[in-house]
Amino acid sequence: MKSDKTVYRCGECGYQSGKWYGRCPSCGEYNTFEETVIAASKGTSQSASTAFRVKGVRLGELETPDYIRVGSGMEEFDRVIGGGIVCGSAILLSGEPGIGKSTLLMQICGTVGRERRVLYVSGEESGRQLKMRADRLGVEAENLYVLNETGAENIIAEIDETNPEIVIIDSIQTIWSGQSTSTFPGSVSQVRESAMLFINKAKSEGFSVILVGHVNKEGGIAGPKVLEHMVDAVLYFEGEKQHAYRIIRAVKNRYGSTNEIGVFEMTEKGLVQVLNPSEALMKERPENVPGSCAVCVMEGSRPIVTEIQALVTPTVYPSPKRTANGVDYNRMCLLLAVLEKRLGLRFSQSDVYLNVTGGLNLSEPASDMAVCLALISGLLDRVIPENFICFGEIGLAGECRSVSGSEQRISEARRLGFTKIAVPGSVKKKTGDKFPDITGVKNLFEMVRIPGLMRKSERKEDIGQQET
Ligand SMILES: Nc1ncnc2c1ncn2[C@@H]1O[C@H](COP(=O)(O)OP(=O)(O)O)[C@@H](O)[C@H]1O
Ligand SMILES: [Mg+2]
Repeated sequence: MKSDKTVYRCGECGYQSGKWYGRCPSCGEYNTFEETVIAASKGTSQSASTAFRVKGVRLGELETPDYIRVGSGMEEFDRVIGGGIVCGSAILLSGEPGIGKSTLLMQICGTVGRERRVLYVSGEESGRQLKMRADRLGVEAENLYVLNETGAENIIAEIDETNPEIVIIDSIQTIWSGQSTSTFPGSVSQVRESAMLFINKAKSEGFSVILVGHVNKEGGIAGPKVLEHMVDAVLYFEGEKQHAYRIIRAVKNRYGSTNEIGVFEMTEKGLVQVLNPSEALMKERPENVPGSCAVCVMEGSRPIVTEIQALVTPTVYPSPKRTANGVDYNRMCLLLAVLEKRLGLRFSQSDVYLNVTGGLNLSEPASDMAVCLALISGLLDRVIPENFICFGEIGLAGECRSVSGSEQRISEARRLGFTKIAVPGSVKKKTGDKFPDITGVKNLFEMVRIPGLMRKSERKEDIGQQET
């Protein structure tokens, strides 16, 4: 008879080995190996002929499932999730501590809990603390049940008792399962096994489960990577805690697109949806300042207008300092090199600080043209008119390349009152008839020569410039 076998498994990547490692040879993570006992199988292995027969089904014979979605009462959240929480799905919501995960979920409970039974399980806060938060947020839901518990089996028993349609586990790192081989809540196998318990229960009984996950120092979800594979959707709640704006995005979604973002503002009364991010982002734009250029980027299906700021100052260091906030650092360095080479501008004696306002993270090359203009305007101390906006990619030869979603971007820019719009030449050709007043530019050289683009700064606010 076979005996039980002990193996060591990496909680991050699942690498399995007969001996323990301090550092996983597969993924390179430290301290992720955990001992797992594999019980010897009782029977003999089944041969194909005696095993239960499995059979493939012709795809056409299957019925198209009709997902039932529950609206969260927040358009910004529903858009990210694909139009509402799908019944029977498992969602992982993660983000840094204090970003507003519990707040968001409590607010969603406030709407959903009016008609459907919701169980909010908190391993971090007592029932009274939850009540205090609910009162502050103005949440009054008849069918909302709260529970302060960390034992997974106890929670499962309560789910059986309450029979909810939505279960929230805040957070999965605080939950402790007696069935796990590890005794520490938050350890890799505890997180994996407790999550498995809830997800299996949700799938078999048809309720939705939302798991809150903490993020670790590196910004990943603390605990096993497999957690992301186990759930149907992974949402990240991000933003600077000092900034009011919070952005929620899906990094995985089995029931919708992963491109959409939802924008919220943190206030005393909780999270308020920002249904019109462009207007909110441009509200505080300074006037008459060099080093600022407006840009229209696409976040999923939604065009958003924001501002790129560049501060270019003479350097005092042997190698100039460069920082990029909201734009990829390497992309900024590449654009600086293109500007040096193609336009002969000298940035090598200057420190460069680039920033996207509102804490937005621009991953699209469509922001290249605006980044270049902000940099040039910062270096030359010239002001770009407030009614000017541009979008387009810059190639290594300094050429302006077209990007997707041009018409939506132009329409959004117009809606916000931008009258001078510069786009790559190919975009102008394609949309010329529809928008005759936009300017098409083929390369950087043509771009900086747009009439009236750069005017001298009239500001005398700087102490250094004031007459004494
Ligand atoms: N009494 C309060 N008044 C105003 N804002 C508060 C109050 N308590 C908490 N907040 C805000 O809520 C945030 C915490 O949100 P929370 O949902 O608990 O975060 P998470 O669950 O992601 O750790 C804080 O960063 C703070 O901005
Ligand atoms: Mg919380």
